[in-house]
Amino acid sequence: MTKNKVTKAVFPVAGLGTRFLPATKSIPKEIMTLVDRPLIQYAIDEARAAGIGEFIFVTSRGKGALEDYFDHAPELENALRRSGKHQLLEVLERTNMESGAIAYVRQHRALGLGHAVWCARHLIGDEPFAVMLPDDVIAAEKPCLQQMAEAFAETGGNMVAAMEVPPEKTSSYGVLDIGDDRGALVTVKGMVEKPKQQDAPSNLAVIGRYILSPDVLGNLNRRKTGAGGEIQLTDAIAEEITAGRKVYGYRFRGQRYDCGSKAGFLQATVAFGLARTDLHDEFLEYLCQIMAQQKAAL
Ligand code: G1P
Repeated sequence: MTKNKVTKAVFPVAGLGTRFLPATKSIPKEIMTLVDRPLIQYAIDEARAAGIGEFIFVTSRGKGALEDYFDHAPELENALRRSGKHQLLEVLERTNMESGAIAYVRQHRALGLGHAVWCARHLIGDEPFAVMLPDDVIAAEKPCLQQMAEAFAETGGNMVAAMEVPPEKTSSYGVLDIGDDRGALVTVKGMVEKPKQQDAPSNLAVIGRYILSPDVLGNLNRRKTGAGGEIQLTDAIAEEITAGRKVYGYRFRGQRYDCGSKAGFLQATVAFGLARTDLHDEFLEYLCQIMAQQKAAL
């Protein structure tokens, strides 16, 4: 069973984040905060829960703040220790990465998600690996990647997180052609990146969590372009099916927020704010008030 163990995760974080300009003019989108934690911290915590011990970031120019975020901050830690702020010190220490656990590789040109993952090929080596898109934030009792890692331990092959979306939204996603539907797990017969609604094989969409076999990196070596003229990860995974290897969709249990969009980010902020015991009562009271005002104004 150990051959299906996943210990490395790739985080493609090279995007310009133009949808959040002007904020992203000087801060990477992944550092934007949901309540009080940067988006990337949610992804890292989820990866750790799934047993990931090596974190590979595919970055680009202007992402220095991300590297600093994961560095230790001895001056800050000392100041908190001296002033007896132990709780804050703990919060800070939980963000520290063990030396050597984190690696950065640059994607020099924005050639697509598949290309970003391919940039990490030498660090991944010849073993299954996870890919996490930090824009997709998933609130779940058992973290999504952990659910998938447990299923993957049984299945091997390749696995993508999957979720039903409204048919008119399929053109924003990778979409699965479903073979055998076993509930949480489905076998995949084909995958299409951002199909027009009328061409979508189903409304089961790929969400940004993947566990992939190193063969996918071999497929990416061919650097074929797909939808939007980009090198698509979806296409490289679909090639696995053509080659007779297994691809599974995993319907995770949890609520996904699209933090790559402003509306999704705001929804996540409300949900994660309400989920915090230290904020819940005051925040709910405010939300009720504002809802009442909105209704009265209708
Ligand atoms: C990427 C993938 C797509 C997937 C989506 C999930 O698209 O290419 O297959 O469905 O993430 O969020 P993006 O949103 O980066 O355009």
